[in-house]
Amino acid sequence: MKNLIITGGAGFIGSHVVRRFVTHYPHYKIHNVDKLTYAGNLLNLTDIESYPNYYFHKIDICDTEAIRKLVYEFEIDAIIHLAAESHVDRSILGPRAFIETNIIGTFSLLEVVREAWKDKKNVRFYHVSTDEVYGSLGETGMFVETTPYDPRSPYSASKAASDHLVRAYGHTYNIPYVISNCSNNYGSHQFPEKLIPLCIQNILKNKPLPIYGKGENIRDWLWVNDHAHAIDIIFHQAENGQTYNIGAHNEQRNIEVVKMLCDEVDRQRNIPVGTSQNLITFVKDRPGHDARYAIDATKLQKDLGWKPSVTFEQGLSHTVKWYLENQSWVEQVTSGEYQKYYEIQYGDR
Ligand code: NAD
Ligand code: TYD
Repeated sequence: MKNLIITGGAGFIGSHVVRRFVTHYPHYKIHNVDKLTYAGNLLNLTDIESYPNYYFHKIDICDTEAIRKLVYEFEIDAIIHLAAESHVDRSILGPRAFIETNIIGTFSLLEVVREAWKDKKNVRFYHVSTDEVYGSLGETGMFVETTPYDPRSPYSASKAASDHLVRAYGHTYNIPYVISNCSNNYGSHQFPEKLIPLCIQNILKNKPLPIYGKGENIRDWLWVNDHAHAIDIIFHQAENGQTYNIGAHNEQRNIEVVKMLCDEVDRQRNIPVGTSQNLITFVKDRPGHDARYAIDATKLQKDLGWKPSVTFEQGLSHTVKWYLENQSWVEQVTSGEYQKYYEIQYGDR
């Protein structure tokens, strides 16, 4: 497999995956297919855009004809599919785009490869998904690959639907596929509407840090570079039809994450540690807020030998450093349409 489409390559995780594949595999041709929504920005890829094995195509994955043309013209033999609407709060405000991109968009890609790959061997559809399809955990237990699906937000329901479509196409039309379900990512280039970059930005602007409910909800955090590494290993080594959970065994309560973040920002700005914690503000809870996610990634570790490369403290430190050094990136990606969303979500705080 040498001619790859990576969908959503201008987004947060996608840009890390594109960078990894373009630089590690110079003999592959990497076609980044992205619609460039508010969450996708070519600024994320300026360091690799002039590589001879990198190509960008501004295409909506729902545009089946445009995808078909690309797949035939460049003899695409693998797709790593990350394009999605990805923010739970936005899916609560307006689910339609999630149904369109995450469900219809995935369907559109599958329809193309069903025909284009009919008589081909050595092809692969790799679907990148989330642990949120499994629903919400109580005090104990972890998600394993066989945990029944129980999505509870429009975002996770749309991702669950896309996972089901990929498996159904694999089963019915023999499309070789793999799926991975990953826990919450953090790291450089994450759009500052998600908890960690939002809080870094608000600390820098001396604005309140909005913690939903009591801050007791638990997420399992993974450094985005480690996710990109796992995707690389699964893409190259997994057997067709397999599913892998990806996570770093790193469960944290939201309030603890935000306190750690405050202290790390204080340290890196050389101001007394504890200062930024004064900005913590408890706000109205997210409707249907899932209580706890926890991923058991034993299968990935045992079968394919992957393990995370950093601790949460190290990953947070890299992340804070990147945001402090890249404020012009933040200004550019948040100019325009994002301001409207921020006001709807958080008022004029
Ligand atoms: P993101 O929102 O940062 O990026 C999504 C990208 O997809 C953007 O570049 C956007 O322009 C593009 N896109 C959106 N709609 C499109 C369309 N119709 N056609 C073409 N491109 C389109 O998302 P992310 O956080 O990088 O997530 C990437 C993938 O990983 C998603 O499938 C998401 O469900 C999954 N995932 C994310 C996390 C996480 O913590 N962020 C965790 C597990 C899985
Ligand atoms: P988020 O980064 O939106 O990821 P997800 O909803 O996919 O888990 O949120 C992570 C956690 O932080 C989640 O429990 C919701 C919470 N949260 C807040 O408390 N305040 C915020 O402003 C945001 C965006 C999230």
